[in-house]
Amino acid sequence: MSKNIGVIGAGSWGTALAKLLSVNEHNVTVYSAISQEIDMLKEFHEQKEKLPGVILPDDMVFTTDIAEACEDKDVIVLAVPSPFTRSTARLMKGHIPDESIVVSVAKGLEDGSFSTLSEIIKEETEARHIVVLCGPTHAEEVGTGMPTAIVAGSKDIKDAELVQDIFMNDSFRVYTSDDPYGMELGGALKNVIALAAGIGDGLGYGDNTKAALITRGIHEIARLGVTCGGKKETFEGLTGIGDLIVTCASMHSRNRRAGILIGKGMSADEAMAEVKQVVEGVYSAKAAMHLAKKHGVSMPIIEQVNLVLFDGKDPAEAMYDLMRRDKKAEVI
Ligand SMILES: NC(=O)c1ccc[n+]([C@@H]2O[C@H](COP(=O)([O-])OP(=O)(O)OC[C@H]3O[C@@H](n4cnc5c(N)ncnc54)[C@H](O)[C@@H]3O)[C@@H](O)[C@H]2O)c1
Repeated sequence: MSKNIGVIGAGSWGTALAKLLSVNEHNVTVYSAISQEIDMLKEFHEQKEKLPGVILPDDMVFTTDIAEACEDKDVIVLAVPSPFTRSTARLMKGHIPDESIVVSVAKGLEDGSFSTLSEIIKEETEARHIVVLCGPTHAEEVGTGMPTAIVAGSKDIKDAELVQDIFMNDSFRVYTSDDPYGMELGGALKNVIALAAGIGDGLGYGDNTKAALITRGIHEIARLGVTCGGKKETFEGLTGIGDLIVTCASMHSRNRRAGILIGKGMSADEAMAEVKQVVEGVYSAKAAMHLAKKHGVSMPIIEQVNLVLFDGKDPAEAMYDLMRRDKKAEVI
């Protein structure tokens, strides 16, 4: 049955999901805080800057009014980059119907509080039903209907199944999970490893380096994730190793692209300015390091990324410091 859905955030991912939901015959309202973005969508039905070539249907509604995007909606998809999750969720408070499901699709971890994005949404909006939807999914590929698999996660599996029904179609396969915490941690921390993978590329290293960073990277993520209460199997799945592979291997990944520029000699600030999008791994790197220290978990790759990003360490030196660590067995 067709649902009324609000999509909050009109960047590449919000636009790709709005398109997918309209293909699935739901009634979609897209909100952005940026009025020029809404003007562009009303005029062209296309996010020309962030997802060119993906045309949205004539009956889609575009608005800068958060109440219009939330009230009377069965499902509200929050698709702004993670640094804006808290402020946007605060705006949504009081406009979310009791029974509606808020779907969190961004990736990040807040430094200081160590809150995941669904925890921030719960705190700020008091929404009763929250589902995390993430996995290895580039907007450019979802927007053009390429086969993609993703996971809908919630402690309340009925909510996850409802989201599965709403989003799933022949080119978008949705699994469910009861481990939203593990999913969110995997989604946030893979961006930090993608920065490392990009740095390796920028330094001119090859596939061996990339494979080492991906496999040792998922070890680090899982070590911290399981210590904090995530399930080991989650890190072996689409939101763990799956998302890590896609982010480290693809030029669609802004984290990898920023890493390449840093490997070639730019500072973190210069690289972010050049990529012209929020590079979420830079925000999550500090939070990951602080969380690891709090729990006494070793995260050598994420530690070196922090030193490069925030202490000006030479990327080549960071890479060699990883190679010169004490001898170890692969699996302890
Ligand atoms: N792009 C992808 O392929 C993809 C896939 C899966 C998940 N995600 C996640 O989805 C989230 C959004 O990513 P994106 O690619 O759409 O980002 P984007 O940079 O394309 O979009 C940013 C959008 O956020 C909104 N925005 C900008 N500044 C804002 C502010 N100050 N307050 C409120 N809203 C503001 C605007 O609508 C803007 O277009 C991220 O967490 C990302 O990791 C992205």
